[in-house]
Amino acid sequence: MSSGSLIDQIDAFERTALAAVQSAPDAAALEAVRIEFLGARNGRLRDLQTVLGKATKEEKPVVGKRFNEVKQRVTAEYETKQRALSRPKRAAGGLDVTLPGVRVEQGRRHPLTQTILEFKEIMGRFGFTVADGPEVEDEWHNFQALNIPADHPARDPLDNFFLATANYAARQSTASELNLTAQPAAVTGPRLLRSQTSTVQIRVMESNPPPVRIISVGRVYRPDTIDATHSCMFHQMEGLLIAEGTTMAQLKTVLRLFARAYLGHDVTIRFRPSFFPFTEPSVEVDMSWDNTGTKWLEIGGAGMVDPNVLKAVGYDPDKVTGFAFGLGIERFCMRRYRVPDIRYFTNNDLRFLRQF
Ligand code: PHE
Repeated sequence: MSSGSLIDQIDAFERTALAAVQSAPDAAALEAVRIEFLGARNGRLRDLQTVLGKATKEEKPVVGKRFNEVKQRVTAEYETKQRALSRPKRAAGGLDVTLPGVRVEQGRRHPLTQTILEFKEIMGRFGFTVADGPEVEDEWHNFQALNIPADHPARDPLDNFFLATANYAARQSTASELNLTAQPAAVTGPRLLRSQTSTVQIRVMESNPPPVRIISVGRVYRPDTIDATHSCMFHQMEGLLIAEGTTMAQLKTVLRLFARAYLGHDVTIRFRPSFFPFTEPSVEVDMSWDNTGTKWLEIGGAGMVDPNVLKAVGYDPDKVTGFAFGLGIERFCMRRYRVPDIRYFTNNDLRFLRQF
Protein backbone atom coordinates (compact mmCIF):
# COMPACT_ATOMS: atom_id res chain seq x y z
CA MET A 1 0.00 0.00 0.00
CA SER A 2 1.38 3.38 -0.93
CA SER A 3 1.74 6.11 1.67
CA GLY A 4 -0.50 8.30 -0.52
CA SER A 5 -3.47 6.00 -0.15
CA LEU A 6 -2.82 5.61 3.55
CA ILE A 7 -2.89 9.38 3.94
CA ASP A 8 -6.09 9.41 1.91
CA GLN A 9 -7.65 6.98 4.33
CA ILE A 10 -6.66 9.11 7.29
CA ASP A 11 -8.08 12.22 5.60
CA ALA A 12 -11.34 10.40 4.87
CA PHE A 13 -11.56 9.31 8.48
CA GLU A 14 -11.00 12.89 9.63
CA ARG A 15 -13.78 14.24 7.43
CA THR A 16 -16.41 11.69 8.43
CA ALA A 17 -15.51 11.74 12.12
CA LEU A 18 -15.63 15.54 12.37
CA ALA A 19 -18.91 15.69 10.46
CA ALA A 20 -20.43 13.07 12.76
CA VAL A 21 -19.27 14.88 15.90
CA GLN A 22 -20.52 18.24 14.71
CA SER A 23 -23.93 16.99 13.68
CA ALA A 24 -24.66 15.03 16.87
CA PRO A 25 -27.85 16.68 18.18
CA ASP A 26 -27.60 15.60 21.82
CA ALA A 27 -25.44 13.86 24.40
CA ALA A 28 -26.73 10.37 23.54
CA ALA A 29 -26.01 10.81 19.84
CA LEU A 30 -22.55 12.16 20.64
CA GLU A 31 -21.83 9.15 22.80
CA ALA A 32 -22.78 6.89 19.88
CA VAL A 33 -20.40 8.84 17.67
CA ARG A 34 -17.65 8.48 20.23
CA ILE A 35 -18.11 4.72 20.37
CA GLU A 36 -18.22 4.43 16.59
CA PHE A 37 -15.14 6.52 15.86
CA LEU A 38 -13.03 6.71 18.98
CA GLY A 39 -14.05 3.51 20.79
CA ALA A 40 -10.98 1.75 22.15
CA ARG A 41 -12.16 -1.72 21.11
CA ASN A 42 -13.96 -1.57 17.80
CA GLY A 43 -13.80 2.07 16.93
CA ARG A 44 -12.92 3.20 13.40
CA LEU A 45 -9.83 4.95 14.68
CA ARG A 46 -8.66 1.65 16.08
CA ASP A 47 -9.26 -0.05 12.72
CA LEU A 48 -7.36 2.69 10.97
CA GLN A 49 -4.44 2.20 13.31
CA THR A 50 -4.40 -1.51 12.45
CA VAL A 51 -4.26 -0.72 8.76
CA LEU A 52 -1.45 1.72 9.30
CA GLY A 53 0.55 -1.03 10.91
CA LYS A 54 1.12 -2.19 7.35
CA ALA A 55 3.02 0.92 6.40
CA THR A 56 6.58 0.44 5.35
CA LYS A 57 9.48 1.62 7.43
CA GLU A 58 9.94 4.67 5.19
CA GLU A 59 6.25 5.56 5.22
CA LYS A 60 5.87 5.27 8.96
CA PRO A 61 7.14 8.71 10.10
CA VAL A 62 4.86 10.61 7.68
CA VAL A 63 1.82 8.45 8.14
CA GLY A 64 2.26 8.20 11.91
CA LYS A 65 2.52 11.96 12.24
CA ARG A 66 -0.64 12.55 10.24
CA PHE A 67 -2.49 9.88 12.20
CA ASN A 68 -1.63 11.50 15.50
CA GLU A 69 -2.72 14.91 14.25
CA VAL A 70 -6.08 13.59 13.19
CA LYS A 71 -6.57 11.63 16.37
CA GLN A 72 -5.93 14.76 18.44
CA ARG A 73 -8.14 16.97 16.30
CA VAL A 74 -11.13 14.59 16.39
CA THR A 75 -10.74 14.01 20.13
CA ALA A 76 -10.55 17.76 20.80
CA GLU A 77 -13.59 18.40 18.64
CA TYR A 78 -15.47 15.69 20.49
CA GLU A 79 -14.61 17.22 23.89
CA THR A 80 -15.67 20.70 22.80
CA LYS A 81 -18.96 19.35 21.54
CA GLN A 82 -19.49 17.42 24.76
CA ARG A 83 -19.02 20.58 26.86
CA ALA A 84 -21.44 22.49 24.65
CA LEU A 85 -24.11 19.81 24.98
CA SER A 86 -23.76 19.55 28.77
CA ARG A 87 -24.52 23.27 29.30
CA PRO A 88 -28.04 23.90 30.70
CA LYS A 89 -30.50 24.06 27.88
CA ARG A 90 -32.81 27.01 27.41
CA ALA A 91 -36.32 26.10 28.31
CA ALA A 92 -39.07 26.58 25.77
CA GLY A 93 -39.79 30.26 25.38
CA GLY A 94 -36.12 31.19 25.73
CA LEU A 95 -36.07 31.60 29.52
CA ASP A 96 -33.80 29.43 31.59
CA VAL A 97 -35.25 29.58 35.06
CA THR A 98 -32.20 27.86 36.54
CA LEU A 99 -29.83 30.70 35.60
CA PRO A 100 -29.12 33.34 38.27
CA GLY A 101 -31.34 36.37 37.72
CA VAL A 102 -30.25 39.82 36.63
CA ARG A 103 -31.24 42.35 39.27
CA VAL A 104 -33.44 45.09 37.86
CA GLU A 105 -32.44 48.46 39.31
CA GLN A 106 -35.53 50.47 40.01
CA GLY A 107 -35.19 54.22 39.79
CA ARG A 108 -37.11 56.56 42.04
CA ARG A 109 -37.58 60.23 42.63
CA HIS A 110 -34.95 62.12 44.56
CA PRO A 111 -36.08 62.78 48.15
CA LEU A 112 -36.18 66.51 47.49
CA THR A 113 -38.32 66.03 44.41
CA GLN A 114 -40.68 63.90 46.48
CA THR A 115 -40.78 66.65 49.11
CA ILE A 116 -41.44 69.35 46.52
CA LEU A 117 -44.30 67.40 44.98
CA GLU A 118 -45.83 66.94 48.41
CA PHE A 119 -45.39 70.64 49.24
CA LYS A 120 -47.21 71.60 46.06
CA GLU A 121 -49.97 69.16 46.83
CA ILE A 122 -50.46 70.48 50.39
CA MET A 123 -50.41 74.11 49.33
CA GLY A 124 -52.75 73.25 46.48
CA ARG A 125 -55.28 72.14 49.08
CA PHE A 126 -54.94 75.59 50.65
CA GLY A 127 -55.76 77.14 47.29
CA PHE A 128 -52.25 78.21 46.25
CA THR A 129 -51.28 77.74 42.61
CA VAL A 130 -47.71 77.23 41.43
CA ALA A 131 -45.72 80.03 39.81
CA ASP A 132 -42.22 79.91 38.37
CA GLY A 133 -39.30 82.25 37.84
CA PRO A 134 -35.75 82.14 36.45
CA GLU A 135 -32.70 81.12 38.49
CA VAL A 136 -30.56 83.72 36.76
CA GLU A 137 -32.00 87.02 37.91
CA ASP A 138 -31.50 90.75 37.54
CA GLU A 139 -31.02 93.11 40.45
CA TRP A 140 -34.50 94.55 40.11
CA HIS A 141 -36.23 91.28 40.92
CA ASN A 142 -33.67 89.95 43.38
CA PHE A 143 -33.19 93.21 45.30
CA GLN A 144 -34.58 96.50 44.26
CA ALA A 145 -38.27 95.75 43.86
CA LEU A 146 -37.98 93.83 47.12
CA ASN A 147 -37.09 97.09 48.88
CA ILE A 148 -33.39 96.22 49.10
CA PRO A 149 -31.58 99.41 48.02
CA ALA A 150 -28.22 99.45 46.24
CA ASP A 151 -26.19 100.11 49.38
CA HIS A 152 -27.83 97.32 51.38
CA PRO A 153 -25.31 94.77 52.71
CA ALA A 154 -27.36 91.90 51.22
CA ARG A 155 -26.22 93.12 47.80
CA ASP A 156 -22.52 92.73 48.57
CA PRO A 157 -20.90 90.87 45.64
CA LEU A 158 -19.18 88.62 48.19
CA ASP A 159 -22.57 87.47 49.47
CA ASN A 160 -24.01 86.68 46.06
CA PHE A 161 -23.13 84.76 42.95
CA PHE A 162 -22.93 87.46 40.30
CA LEU A 163 -22.32 86.19 36.79
CA ALA A 164 -18.84 86.82 35.43
CA THR A 165 -20.29 88.49 32.36
CA ALA A 166 -22.12 90.94 34.59
CA ASN A 167 -21.60 94.55 33.81
CA TYR A 168 -20.12 95.86 37.04
CA ALA A 169 -19.98 99.41 35.76
CA ALA A 170 -23.74 99.33 35.39
CA ARG A 171 -23.97 98.01 38.92
CA GLN A 172 -21.88 100.82 40.35
CA SER A 173 -24.06 103.44 38.69
CA THR A 174 -27.28 102.13 40.28
CA ALA A 175 -28.65 104.85 42.54
CA SER A 176 -27.67 104.21 46.12
CA GLU A 177 -31.05 105.36 47.30
CA LEU A 178 -34.03 103.16 46.61
CA ASN A 179 -35.48 104.55 43.45
CA LEU A 180 -38.61 102.77 42.40
CA THR A 181 -38.58 104.29 38.95
CA ALA A 182 -35.09 102.92 38.28
CA GLN A 183 -36.39 99.57 37.06
CA PRO A 184 -34.75 99.55 33.60
CA ALA A 185 -31.14 99.91 34.85
CA ALA A 186 -31.64 97.17 37.42
CA VAL A 187 -33.26 94.91 34.86
CA THR A 188 -30.64 95.39 32.15
CA GLY A 189 -27.65 95.49 34.52
CA PRO A 190 -25.68 92.71 36.20
CA ARG A 191 -27.13 89.24 36.55
CA LEU A 192 -26.82 86.90 39.46
CA LEU A 193 -28.00 83.49 40.58
CA ARG A 194 -31.05 84.35 42.65
CA SER A 195 -30.40 84.31 46.38
CA GLN A 196 -34.07 83.87 47.27
CA THR A 197 -37.32 82.80 45.64
CA SER A 198 -38.89 86.12 46.69
CA THR A 199 -37.95 87.21 43.16
CA VAL A 200 -40.98 85.30 41.95
CA GLN A 201 -43.27 87.41 44.15
CA ILE A 202 -42.28 90.42 42.07
CA ARG A 203 -42.60 88.62 38.74
CA VAL A 204 -46.09 87.38 39.59
CA MET A 205 -47.35 90.74 40.89
CA GLU A 206 -45.86 92.61 37.93
CA SER A 207 -47.93 90.61 35.52
CA ASN A 208 -51.09 89.90 37.53
CA PRO A 209 -53.54 92.18 39.29
CA PRO A 210 -54.53 91.30 42.87
CA PRO A 211 -55.72 89.02 44.42
CA VAL A 212 -52.73 86.67 44.31
CA ARG A 213 -52.31 83.30 45.99
CA ILE A 214 -49.19 81.50 44.73
CA ILE A 215 -46.28 79.39 45.81
CA SER A 216 -43.01 79.06 43.94
CA VAL A 217 -40.48 76.31 44.47
CA GLY A 218 -36.92 76.23 43.28
CA ARG A 219 -33.21 76.55 43.77
CA VAL A 220 -31.49 79.50 45.40
CA TYR A 221 -27.76 80.22 45.64
CA ARG A 222 -25.67 81.77 48.38
CA PRO A 223 -21.92 81.66 48.98
CA ASP A 224 -22.44 80.33 52.50
CA THR A 225 -19.89 78.27 54.36
CA ILE A 226 -21.03 74.71 53.82
CA ASP A 227 -21.84 72.67 56.93
CA ALA A 228 -24.44 70.17 58.11
CA THR A 229 -27.31 72.64 57.69
CA HIS A 230 -25.96 75.10 55.09
CA SER A 231 -25.20 74.66 51.44
CA CYS A 232 -24.34 77.13 48.67
CA MET A 233 -27.37 75.87 46.74
CA PHE A 234 -30.64 74.88 48.35
CA HIS A 235 -34.36 74.92 47.66
CA GLN A 236 -36.99 77.31 48.90
CA MET A 237 -40.73 77.42 48.75
CA GLU A 238 -42.00 80.94 48.49
CA GLY A 239 -45.58 81.74 49.33
CA LEU A 240 -47.47 84.95 48.56
CA LEU A 241 -51.01 85.92 49.31
CA ILE A 242 -52.34 89.35 48.36
CA ALA A 243 -55.92 90.35 49.02
CA GLU A 244 -57.99 92.86 50.92
CA GLY A 245 -57.68 92.63 54.68
CA THR A 246 -54.95 89.97 54.94
CA THR A 247 -53.67 89.45 58.48
CA MET A 248 -50.60 88.17 60.27
CA ALA A 249 -52.85 85.65 62.04
CA GLN A 250 -53.69 84.12 58.66
CA LEU A 251 -49.99 83.87 57.82
CA LYS A 252 -49.22 82.09 61.08
CA THR A 253 -52.14 79.73 60.60
CA VAL A 254 -51.11 78.82 57.06
CA LEU A 255 -47.53 78.08 58.20
CA ARG A 256 -48.70 76.00 61.16
CA LEU A 257 -51.17 74.02 59.09
CA PHE A 258 -48.57 73.49 56.39
CA ALA A 259 -45.90 72.28 58.81
CA ARG A 260 -48.32 69.89 60.45
CA ALA A 261 -49.58 68.57 57.12
CA TYR A 262 -46.03 67.67 56.13
CA LEU A 263 -44.42 66.78 59.44
CA GLY A 264 -47.32 65.56 61.55
CA HIS A 265 -48.87 66.90 64.68
CA ASP A 266 -45.88 66.52 66.96
CA VAL A 267 -44.08 69.46 65.36
CA THR A 268 -44.08 72.81 67.11
CA ILE A 269 -43.68 76.00 65.09
CA ARG A 270 -42.37 79.13 66.74
CA PHE A 271 -42.14 82.67 65.43
CA ARG A 272 -39.39 85.13 66.35
CA PRO A 273 -39.56 88.83 65.50
CA SER A 274 -37.09 89.58 62.73
CA PHE A 275 -36.40 91.92 59.84
CA PHE A 276 -36.62 91.60 56.08
CA PRO A 277 -36.63 94.66 53.79
CA PHE A 278 -39.66 93.31 51.92
CA THR A 279 -41.92 92.50 54.87
CA GLU A 280 -43.13 94.51 57.84
CA PRO A 281 -43.60 93.14 60.42
CA SER A 282 -41.28 90.21 59.80
CA VAL A 283 -40.72 86.94 61.61
CA GLU A 284 -38.29 84.10 61.48
CA VAL A 285 -39.88 80.68 61.74
CA ASP A 286 -38.40 77.75 63.64
CA MET A 287 -39.60 74.19 64.01
CA SER A 288 -38.93 71.85 66.89
CA TRP A 289 -36.35 69.21 65.96
CA ASP A 290 -37.69 66.76 68.54
CA ASN A 291 -39.99 66.75 71.54
CA THR A 292 -37.46 67.99 74.09
CA GLY A 293 -38.30 71.62 73.41
CA THR A 294 -34.59 72.47 73.40
CA LYS A 295 -33.54 71.97 69.78
CA TRP A 296 -34.96 74.22 67.08
CA LEU A 297 -34.15 74.52 63.41
CA GLU A 298 -34.85 77.67 61.45
CA ILE A 299 -37.05 76.90 58.47
CA GLY A 300 -37.48 80.31 56.91
CA GLY A 301 -38.73 83.85 57.06
CA ALA A 302 -42.12 85.44 56.67
CA GLY A 303 -44.08 88.61 57.20
CA MET A 304 -46.63 91.09 55.90
CA VAL A 305 -45.62 92.42 52.47
CA ASP A 306 -43.98 95.83 52.83
CA PRO A 307 -45.99 98.67 51.18
CA ASN A 308 -42.87 99.63 49.21
CA VAL A 309 -42.95 96.25 47.49
CA LEU A 310 -46.62 96.67 46.61
CA LYS A 311 -45.83 100.11 45.18
CA ALA A 312 -42.88 98.75 43.17
CA VAL A 313 -45.19 96.39 41.29
CA GLY A 314 -47.94 98.97 40.86
CA TYR A 315 -50.34 97.75 43.54
CA ASP A 316 -52.14 100.19 45.81
CA PRO A 317 -51.07 99.49 49.44
CA ASP A 318 -54.19 101.29 50.66
CA LYS A 319 -56.39 98.75 48.91
CA VAL A 320 -54.59 95.43 49.27
CA THR A 321 -52.26 93.88 51.80
CA GLY A 322 -50.61 90.52 51.85
CA PHE A 323 -48.27 88.07 53.49
CA ALA A 324 -45.27 86.22 52.17
CA PHE A 325 -43.04 83.44 53.40
CA GLY A 326 -39.92 81.65 52.23
CA LEU A 327 -39.18 78.18 53.60
CA GLY A 328 -36.11 75.97 53.27
CA ILE A 329 -37.19 72.72 51.66
CA GLU A 330 -34.15 70.63 52.62
CA ARG A 331 -34.70 71.35 56.27
CA PHE A 332 -38.28 70.09 56.24
CA CYS A 333 -37.12 66.92 54.54
CA MET A 334 -34.30 66.57 57.08
CA ARG A 335 -36.72 66.91 59.97
CA ARG A 336 -39.15 64.36 58.60
CA TYR A 337 -36.57 61.69 57.75
CA ARG A 338 -34.00 62.59 60.43
CA VAL A 339 -31.37 63.37 57.83
CA PRO A 340 -28.43 64.64 59.90
CA ASP A 341 -26.57 66.49 57.14
CA ILE A 342 -27.81 68.60 54.21
CA ARG A 343 -24.89 67.43 52.06
CA TYR A 344 -26.48 63.99 51.71
CA PHE A 345 -28.96 65.51 49.25
CA THR A 346 -26.30 66.37 46.71
CA ASN A 347 -23.48 63.86 47.11
CA ASN A 348 -25.38 61.17 45.21
CA ASP A 349 -24.61 58.27 47.52
CA LEU A 350 -26.94 55.48 46.45
CA ARG A 351 -27.00 54.06 49.97
CA PHE A 352 -28.71 57.31 51.01
CA LEU A 353 -30.94 57.73 47.97
CA ARG A 354 -32.22 54.15 48.06
CA GLN A 355 -33.84 54.79 51.43
CA PHE A 356 -36.52 57.02 49.94
N1 PHE B 1 -36.53 85.62 51.19
C1 PHE B 1 -36.27 85.39 52.60
C2 PHE B 1 -34.99 84.58 52.71
O1 PHE B 1 -34.62 83.95 51.78
C3 PHE B 1 -37.40 84.64 53.24
C4 PHE B 1 -38.67 85.43 53.24
C5 PHE B 1 -39.59 85.26 52.24
C6 PHE B 1 -38.94 86.33 54.28
C7 PHE B 1 -40.78 85.98 52.25
C8 PHE B 1 -40.12 87.02 54.30
C9 PHE B 1 -41.03 86.86 53.29
O2 PHE B 1 -34.37 84.57 53.76
